[in-house]
Amino acid sequence: MRLFMQTPSKTVSEIAFQQCISPSCRATFGVDEVLTACTKCGGLLDVSYDWNAAAIPASISEFESKWSNRHDPLCYSGVWRFRELLPFAPPEKIVTVGEGQTLLQQTNSVGAFVGLDAGNLFLQYEGMNPSGSFKDNGMTAAFTHAHMIGASQAACASTGNTSASLAMYCAVSRLMKAVIFIGSGKIAYGKLSQALEYGALTVAINGDFDDAMLRVKEVCSKLGIYLVNSINPFRLEGQKTIMLRVLESLQWQVPDWIIVPGGNLGNSSSFGKAFMELKHLGLIDRVPRLAIINAAGANTLSQLYEESGVRWNDGEIDNAPVEKYYDAMQAAGRKASTIASAIEINRPVNFEKCLRALDVCDGVVREISDLEILDAKAQVGAGGIGCEPASAASVAGAKLLREQGIIAPSDRVVCILTGHQLKDPTATVAYHTTDQEEFNEVLGSRGVQRASYANRAVSVPNDLNEIVRAIQLYS
Ligand code: F0G
Repeated sequence: MRLFMQTPSKTVSEIAFQQCISPSCRATFGVDEVLTACTKCGGLLDVSYDWNAAAIPASISEFESKWSNRHDPLCYSGVWRFRELLPFAPPEKIVTVGEGQTLLQQTNSVGAFVGLDAGNLFLQYEGMNPSGSFKDNGMTAAFTHAHMIGASQAACASTGNTSASLAMYCAVSRLMKAVIFIGSGKIAYGKLSQALEYGALTVAINGDFDDAMLRVKEVCSKLGIYLVNSINPFRLEGQKTIMLRVLESLQWQVPDWIIVPGGNLGNSSSFGKAFMELKHLGLIDRVPRLAIINAAGANTLSQLYEESGVRWNDGEIDNAPVEKYYDAMQAAGRKASTIASAIEINRPVNFEKCLRALDVCDGVVREISDLEILDAKAQVGAGGIGCEPASAASVAGAKLLREQGIIAPSDRVVCILTGHQLKDPTATVAYHTTDQEEFNEVLGSRGVQRASYANRAVSVPNDLNEIVRAIQLYS
């Protein structure tokens, strides 16, 4: 049986190249160049392919055959078993730690909370990745590119998950040293503990993620360090495979909706690219709709897309409202603020690419409050999976879009749970705590007053009769 079209005898540098996403520029660069922006116009870059020279499967379902070859690390990886759709790396250079063994879980309890008919809500749990978030999908790709070009140090700014992932790849492979930039006091403890334990050089700067992002770019160009934030187009190639695994789990049936939290907008951009390519290659016949969910305290995309009506517009983006928005933000000294610290970002680096994804997938953007995020998170947890606060934005967003009648009860909806439940125990315990004072201290300052689904611990004296009485009373 022929599983894949014959690989033409082309090298990766003959198949893959980097290209400016701006249709009026389209400058191209070699796959071996280290760039985070087009050197001609400053635009964002894609990794592009000459698909005629690549070996693509005749049908998308052929990828499943790789499961029978799981002793091969490149078939075991949930990223690299789709490598024919991201053919930029010679196999011997690929660095994998078995990322992407993730689960698409159908859940009727969370589906009922969202307002969907039974059987229609699916949660793609990317918390199952080795470092506990979706970032490993992208990091294996960026790290592989860094290895291809011989980097010895790699850096990122992070709200915590990118840094945990980079630190892990460095620690496992010993190929590079990790330098991570975090905003001081802006990172959940689960994530900080990973970076410290994996031995990353951890630079806590006096500022937030947006400040750290600006600095890390300067530092990387000054010191020649390889940058692995999602502005790096190779990162997004790996993240495309989240969508491939979703389709695989749905037996290659395209769902009606993909819903994802929006921070730096790397995921949403990569999903749009995945669907553009699958459609172009004739591997799917339609694309799903995309909903990107901002936290209300970090709502740049929602404001610019939904309020100001900024659109991709075939690459001719109207920049005037964008500049006005950032000028006003600067003048007011406005900083991002949300309990969902992973998406506490006001200046998303992938903004333009994300507009393209919204265009391709007939997308919508919504913003939701911290309370809505935490209630949705509690419901995801009660459904037996659990996730960190930012991830629950997708479920809260699904509920909002259902209430607004944009999603129908009969639609098939996939929410991406981007990070593991244990990443941010502080937020979880604060939500469920019996101690109202502590709850107020952690969440009250953010306007969260009520925890609808709190599962409060019951305090009982250390006495058998009292314990028995309490169990009978509360069970
Ligand atoms: N969910 C989680 C758990 C994240 O860690 C992030 C981003 C996002 C959602 C947003 O994804 O940036 O692709 O829109 N975390 C980055 C970090 C910024 O540094 O770990 P995005």
